Amino acid sequence: MTMTTPIQTEQRQAADATRNVDLLTRAYLMEMETVANYLAASTNLDGIRAQEVARPLAADVDEELGHARRLAARLHELGAVVPGSHELLREQDMLQPPAEPADVESVIRGVLEAEDGAIAHYRELIEATDGVDWVTQDLAISILADEEGHRRLFEGFLRDFA
Ligand SMILES: [Fe+2]
Ligand SMILES: [Fe+2]
Repeated sequence: MTMTTPIQTEQRQAADATRNVDLLTRAYLMEMETVANYLAASTNLDGIRAQEVARPLAADVDEELGHARRLAARLHELGAVVPGSHELLREQDMLQPPAEPADVESVIRGVLEAEDGAIAHYRELIEATDGVDWVTQDLAISILADEEGHRRLFEGFLRDFA
């Protein structure tokens, strides 16, 4: 039988804390990329029908920025550094401006991909913080609920536009 020494327990707790800060930091950076792309896409969309998607997408910009704010505050509470622009992600290929400014469907598909990525990441954060950091877990659950709402909304739009 192997015994866990107090030093091993301390090392494991330190490793968990580092991993959770990494996941939290990545969540923050994902939100910031989403803010940039939703703001651009909601502005670039042209045409009367496109406005039905542009309006809720513009409203989402504020929600995603709200997520970034809450994640930044939590990072600060944990004694971690909130990253600057040099750390920003460039992963959302699907959300780059479409060649045709009225291409609503491509924007919707890009949003769905971003929301799926966010949902998967918050699930990972919720599992990683289980029993380790309840406050971060609570935050991740609350944001996950918003992302699932966004996903549901744009799934409905896809049915109308595809
Ligand atoms: Fe978000
Ligand atoms: Fe979202």
